[in-house]
Amino acid sequence: MWGAVAALGPREARDLAIYFAALHPKAANDGNRDLADRGRTIYLEGIPEANIVSCYACHGPNAEGVRGIPRLGGLAYFYLKGRLEQWGEGYHSERDSPMPMVATHLGPDEIEALASYLSFVK
Ligand code: HEC
Repeated sequence: MWGAVAALGPREARDLAIYFAALHPKAANDGNRDLADRGRTIYLEGIPEANIVSCYACHGPNAEGVRGIPRLGGLAYFYLKGRLEQWGEGYHSERDSPMPMVATHLGPDEIEALASYLSFVK
């Protein structure tokens, strides 16, 4: 991505953002359906006894995103799984992002469930 966007000026970046924001999201539908209910519960409620916070407070009730916080509905299972695993390993943190702290408490089963659930949300 660094190489792909290096030549974009502020105007092109703004035009692209407007274009992407106007697209109608579609669910990727590529997760494990059997895990979607569990993922939804974690998304909405977290798992307080395991220090896992709910995602809904920041990403919105339907994973639609809120201002600078990104939409998660429409993302593919493998992308979501990769992001959540990498944060747990300490990679890919945006400056001041809460996500490394959020993801550090997620185990493989929670990541599978969340990525599956979100892949069915649009
Ligand atoms: C305190 C607010 C907050 C909470 C709670 C939170 N997030 Fe996030 N999340 C963010 C912000 C801000 C970003 C964008 C910054 C970044 O990517 O580091 C983000 C980015 C993401 C992304 C990357 C999206 C992309 O397009 O690459 C994923 C995936 C994600 N969050 C999943 C989750 C999940 C799953 C949970 C619940 C377990 C959760 N988040 C809880 C604020 C939050």
